[in-house]
Amino acid sequence: MAEGRVEGISKVTGSGKYAAEYKVDNVCYGVIVGSTIPAGEIEAYHLDDAKEVAGVLDIITHLNRPSIPAFENEESIKKSGFSLPVLHTDKVFFKGQPIALVIAETLEDATYAASLVTATYKQSSFNVDFDTTHPSIPLAGTGKERGTMDAWSNAAFVADAEYNIKHEVHNPMEMHATIATWVSKDKLKLWDKNQGVNNVQGTLSRLWKMPAANIEVISEFVGGGFGAGLLVWPHVLMTVMAAQQVKRPVKVVLTRPQMFTLVGYRPQAWQKVKIGADKDGNFLGILHQSKHSKSVYDNYREGITRISRMLYKIPNAKTEEATVSLNLSAPTWMRGPGDCSGAFGLECAIDELSYQLKKDPVQLRLQNLATEIDPDTQKPWSTNFLNECVEKGAANIEWAKYRKAQPASVKEGDWMIGYGMACGMWFAGRSKASAGIKMQKDGTISVETAMTDIGTGTGTGMQNIAHDNLGIPKNKIKVNLGNSNLPAAPSQGGSTGLSTMSGAVVAACNEFRKKIAELASVVDEAYKHVNPADIVFTKNGVALQTQGNRPVSYENIFAKNNLEIIDVQATSGPGEERQKYAFCSGAAHFVRVKVHAKTGKVKVDKIVSVVDAGYVVNDKAAANQISGAAVGGLGMALTEEQLVDHKLGCVVGNDLAGYHFPVNADAPIIDVSFIGKPDVNINPAGAKGLGEVGIIGMAPAVANAIYNATGKRLRNLPITPDKVL
Ligand code: MOS
Repeated sequence: MAEGRVEGISKVTGSGKYAAEYKVDNVCYGVIVGSTIPAGEIEAYHLDDAKEVAGVLDIITHLNRPSIPAFENEESIKKSGFSLPVLHTDKVFFKGQPIALVIAETLEDATYAASLVTATYKQSSFNVDFDTTHPSIPLAGTGKERGTMDAWSNAAFVADAEYNIKHEVHNPMEMHATIATWVSKDKLKLWDKNQGVNNVQGTLSRLWKMPAANIEVISEFVGGGFGAGLLVWPHVLMTVMAAQQVKRPVKVVLTRPQMFTLVGYRPQAWQKVKIGADKDGNFLGILHQSKHSKSVYDNYREGITRISRMLYKIPNAKTEEATVSLNLSAPTWMRGPGDCSGAFGLECAIDELSYQLKKDPVQLRLQNLATEIDPDTQKPWSTNFLNECVEKGAANIEWAKYRKAQPASVKEGDWMIGYGMACGMWFAGRSKASAGIKMQKDGTISVETAMTDIGTGTGTGMQNIAHDNLGIPKNKIKVNLGNSNLPAAPSQGGSTGLSTMSGAVVAACNEFRKKIAELASVVDEAYKHVNPADIVFTKNGVALQTQGNRPVSYENIFAKNNLEIIDVQATSGPGEERQKYAFCSGAAHFVRVKVHAKTGKVKVDKIVSVVDAGYVVNDKAAANQISGAAVGGLGMALTEEQLVDHKLGCVVGNDLAGYHFPVNADAPIIDVSFIGKPDVNINPAGAKGLGEVGIIGMAPAVANAIYNATGKRLRNLPITPDKVL
């Protein structure tokens, strides 16, 4: 078993600080007031009662807020790319839209005063009903079409069905929070919960038209992201405006109900998948259509059908998509965005086809997986071991022994038993990032990056990679991350974190070796011409693997070079390999379910996930990600559904009592394993993306198992007991 995480002790002892936990002198508190109508205009605010509350410092609205330079007028707002011009408009697009921020000495004062703020509105008509609206919205082609529909419309076997997924909400454990302080007139500092400090820094720099270097953003510990932290949301802007207005540090923590409307969600989606095969089960063609909800004020696109162009060898493929604008807040990327929803349609349809063909769904996939060439780009996959994932998963769950081809044929008392499987795939991205290495006089080093670690284990991975490259013991390698002043890095999301950072850390290690050779040569000339790779790092200094050892102590290196610290930085990013190859991570998910014949309760009894993510830098952190993602998949399959009240025009039950996600008691033992073969083209570590593929394919695996258990094909998520019965 790999050892624990670098941040483990800080997390479990509570010494690790999350955004809202920083103590900032003279801080005051902001509480957001949301609109009480779903659409219209604000005519007047009624603030007198709130202002009477002791401790209230100010109430900012669109009438008195300090203006954001990029929100000067309609034109500049459009250009800013920020979808909701918060407190810079009298228009209301959804219920709960922030219309005011109450700032007070204490959270209690601010909360009470916020409850007294009201507004008069001019209401307009609204629409929050996806299901009745989407049929009238036309689809449009997306992605590269292959072949023709005619070529397969008379195929021997065709599955053709519609699938629906409800609106789902990220709900990370840590609520979004921002503390903002103007340290001087043109310098801003933020402690903020997010998935990318440089992104927050860059966005604020753009909106306030100030140099990024004047903005420091800290997000060292993050209590879950799931995609909600990838964008800068209105509350961040409001906190910065408030700090400007009251000339004090201001803290805003979203309430749990606000987490349902102010930081995105997975949009509601409709899909239709038609897939055809010949009598031997070779896929001939697919038509995958999808529509998803979005807000009236943003342009979010999920890309739900993309996975159907990538996963299998299908000579004829057509994909179409559309969005449906509603008076709801803006959706965003959530847990395997797009592909996770798309895989539900695709992988259920293939399961349906397998029963028509009377062919084992494992065999059907092995026969059709496109593991050589990416059918969409026609580039060879750098590596794609999905077939091995399927084979290994089938072996691990003993598919051949226990899974019965005849649905509803296995019973244990009142429980019906079934097995299901599905595949997942995710593009294996990599971006450019920088990393730094600093060595102290005692020989300890710190590896640094601005990237936030959202709980995935990036910091631990960075330590492991530095250890592998330098041979310095792990307990002498610290990790510093989540601060915009550290070497620049992209946001952590889309399973690109470690794939990106590994390159930067390896580059920094190489740079560090070069620097050490140069500094050691001041002590011993032999180091002038050494190959930096020859240097070994010992307890007290460096030596050479060849050329007679020639030890030089750290003490001497620092003293002779008159240094207090040795400090290097390097940048690394993707290159030509991206032109030559297509990159993906893959997973095969297998589940065993028990379905109660009388209550309709579905108990997922066993999960086996086998993942191809290239070289696995840290087994434990990697397996943690996949099992966490698997539980997210259970939520999608069985419980997660944000209710929308069509009359009130808003989400309801927006708290942890109303929104059901699985807890430990709902999760079985999850058996995670990895193929582990390095992808030598993707980055120096050979590590592909990890995380998204843990959830992509999980919900269809569960739905397919429920069919196997009951003979009931359920195409609408979540599969709650009422649907099962
Ligand atoms: Mo994500 S949706 O990879 O944060």
